Amino acid sequence: MLLEVKNLSVYYYTLSGVVKGAENVSFSLEEGEWITFVGESGSGKSTVAQAVMNLVPSPGRIVSGEVLFRGRDLVKMKPEELRSIRGKEITMVFQDPMTSLDPLRKVGDQIVEAMVVHGVPEDEARERAKDLFEKVNLPADRLDYYPHQLSGGQRQRVSIAIAMAFNPKLLIADEPTTALDVIVQDAIMDLLDNMKSEGTTIYFVTHDISLAAERSDRIAVMYAGKLVELGTVEQIVESPLHPYTKALLEAVPDLWKEGEVKAIPGYPPDLRNPPRGCRFHPRCPLARAGVCDSEEPELREVEKGHLVACHFPGGWKE
Ligand SMILES: Nc1ncnc2c1ncn2[C@@H]1O[C@H](COP(=O)(O)OP(=O)(O)OP(=O)(O)O)[C@@H](O)[C@H]1O
Ligand SMILES: [Mg+2]
Repeated sequence: MLLEVKNLSVYYYTLSGVVKGAENVSFSLEEGEWITFVGESGSGKSTVAQAVMNLVPSPGRIVSGEVLFRGRDLVKMKPEELRSIRGKEITMVFQDPMTSLDPLRKVGDQIVEAMVVHGVPEDEARERAKDLFEKVNLPADRLDYYPHQLSGGQRQRVSIAIAMAFNPKLLIADEPTTALDVIVQDAIMDLLDNMKSEGTTIYFVTHDISLAAERSDRIAVMYAGKLVELGTVEQIVESPLHPYTKALLEAVPDLWKEGEVKAIPGYPPDLRNPPRGCRFHPRCPLARAGVCDSEEPELREVEKGHLVACHFPGGWKE
């Protein structure tokens, strides 16, 4: 097992209250797989992804749980130990590469530095930077460009090149293609696929369940800070068990098929004060009074590898 996350909770201590960004999230990743986290905006996808790197920004804090990376708990690890793992064994790519790239320095220098901080001699790092650019299909002369001289897609290639520098065990990609057009998006997804074929485990985040279904092995569905369903792509897409997952799938427009696109009625809850019982019950067409509005459903395995947190999994099926 590459990664085991156990009962992870992350709260944001804001002036207007405590926001429960993620609560009791548990899952594990096998080496070499591609998992995708999906869910509406504010469901806690980025919170969990950042917590896996033990990089939750203030005013957020991991309040409980464990993040075991190859058996060692990143939550308890000392800062210097964490620094030796981050950027080398676990790397991250963000939605907007401008936030991780330094606008005032040439991108080539930034790749070289990412390697030098982990002890690679500078000459060797320069050579490797050229190879990395070739791998992400960027011409070598781009090494001398500043971030603003590159297109959005090229900048994302640079951040992937940096992420690839050490052939990481785990790549966390948080909506890396959201700001890009579909053609460029596809090319970036191909690069992640290449990393996977070289042995990197891919932890991908998107709000688009159809994109999740394209390349992943498994899908994790989040709602209001909770992991509500987890399974293989086939299990999630062909036989979803949580009414929220079903609603997400029905909200995908399909160009080729007839049929109505159904928006999910209502809004996600305020995570300062989430609903009692199942957090989805106020929006759920199947919710039953006396159960769903009072008892919190546990995430449990319903069939092999298919987990769901619902009192009536697949309850719409006759
Ligand atoms: N810095 C912060 N301060 C306060 N609350 C925060 C902060 N960051 C996130 N939150 C809250 O935590 C919850 C989970 O947010 P998170 O950003 O993890 O969701 P997300 O699924 O990544 O959403 P998106 O699709 O918009 O990126 C939300 O209620 C959000 O408002
Ligand atoms: Mg996010």
